[in-house]
Amino acid sequence: MSDRSCRITGCRTGATAAPGAPACPPPFVLAIFGASGDLARRKLMPALWRLACQGRLPERFAILGYARSPMSDEAFRQRMREACREADGDAFDERTWPHFASRLFYEAGAYDSASDFQRLASRLDDLDGGGPRGIGASGRVAGTDRAAVPARLYYLATPAGTYESIIEGVGALPWPGPRRIVVEKPHGRNLAEARRLNELLARHFAEDDVFRIDHYLGKETVQNILILRFANTIFEPLWNRKYIDYVEITASETLGVGGRGGFYEQAGALRDMIQGHLLQLLALVAMEQPASFDAADVRDEKAKVLRALRPMTGDLAATEAVRGQYGPGRVGGRDVPGYRQEDGVPRDSRVETFAAVTAWIDTWRWKGVPFYLRTGKRLDRHATEIALHFERVPTCLFSRPELCARTEPNVLVLRVQPDEGVHLELSSKVPAEGLNVGRVQMEFSYASLFGRRPPEAYETLLVDVMHGDPALFARRDQVELAWAFVDPIVEAWAATPATDFPNYAAGAAGPKEADRLLSRHGRRWRATT
Ligand code: BG6
Repeated sequence: MSDRSCRITGCRTGATAAPGAPACPPPFVLAIFGASGDLARRKLMPALWRLACQGRLPERFAILGYARSPMSDEAFRQRMREACREADGDAFDERTWPHFASRLFYEAGAYDSASDFQRLASRLDDLDGGGPRGIGASGRVAGTDRAAVPARLYYLATPAGTYESIIEGVGALPWPGPRRIVVEKPHGRNLAEARRLNELLARHFAEDDVFRIDHYLGKETVQNILILRFANTIFEPLWNRKYIDYVEITASETLGVGGRGGFYEQAGALRDMIQGHLLQLLALVAMEQPASFDAADVRDEKAKVLRALRPMTGDLAATEAVRGQYGPGRVGGRDVPGYRQEDGVPRDSRVETFAAVTAWIDTWRWKGVPFYLRTGKRLDRHATEIALHFERVPTCLFSRPELCARTEPNVLVLRVQPDEGVHLELSSKVPAEGLNVGRVQMEFSYASLFGRRPPEAYETLLVDVMHGDPALFARRDQVELAWAFVDPIVEAWAATPATDFPNYAAGAAGPKEADRLLSRHGRRWRATT
């Protein structure tokens, strides 16, 4: 975070706010369940710390970590300091840290014990303003802000098996102010489980107070899809079956499952990446223009796309989906083990680490345009991108077959990460070679144009939770529709376990079988950039 200097003061609301400053969130107390875990350490706390450093948190806030491991407030602060220092590297601001750390607290307890929840409740009450360390007692905030009841934010960063008791537990805690719950993936393991979880959430929280995290939606470049599409006149007239031949959505990772073998065994690439992240990207690319940027309007349009997905029933799951698993290989110049050699993974695991699916959207706009989705671990490149391939020009250029053969269709590539940006591939005259045609790229890169990397997804999403804006979170119907699409593939794969795993070496572009999805339509996967 070398481009950010760290501030000690919080942001101001209303008339006291600096002109043009982002809206300041109202006071809050955030309880993080699973605070001793990996997500809190790697993502949540560094994001909260950066927001504090940027002066984007209000004067009145407190963060209460809750997990099973016993720990004092001081030990928790120390641990979080290490986490933030690791995230910031040399730019870590040692001087400002104590100010932020004074807002961190910790309570140990079980996730399913009524008496532990009672203790949690009184600790929260204390922080909410009643007790000596309460955020209402800071005395620094003037006017109406001081009078506001802080929002209670409950963040579930725990294994899914604990969700039910935590939701019941926090759902029963009375609170006169705003109350929101943030739920990490997985949102169920199939449609039936997702429905059960959603019904439980609905018993205790209003839908707009449920924030189902899909961190892809917090990525700046993902949000830019809607701006690019709807704030420019040049794309929308072409954004349909008449001009777009096919769409590729790729999330390619070079990392393996690392220490998450146990979790991954319950998930696999289809559930882990396609059900959430990739289908959300598909919905953003394919949706109609929402009436406004309000959460309800945006989410309605996305849900319509998911509802129009052709069900993967009958033979479709077999013809339109391909799976793979990595074996040992070389990535980034070093030898890496295969999936079956990773910790927590059985030696005969049939879980897929690669999945590719053709999705068909049966609407006027998209009928007949395949959306090829693919994702995998331990692939040759780290890249997430959306490539829209346009139709070929309808005539042979100047009736000259040699030019015609070189006139490749246009491709618009939205690069989500790591090199965030957009490029458009065009045909151009090659200088000084008579009449010759070559390929050129128009390029827009976030880093070079705006001079810095976009903010981390978790920073954006946490601020939205503080403001109570669920636009960038998955709504209940979206999650269920995505499961309805994925479930038949999961079932088909479970009924015919793969016999050829591992079928790609770590460091390869994926299994050969994935080529079939495109080659039967006379196409090839794009090499990601
Ligand atoms: C998570 C998945 O949701 O997304 C991980 O559970 C995956 O398996 C990760 O590695 C990818 O996120 P990103 O932001 O690195 O593309």
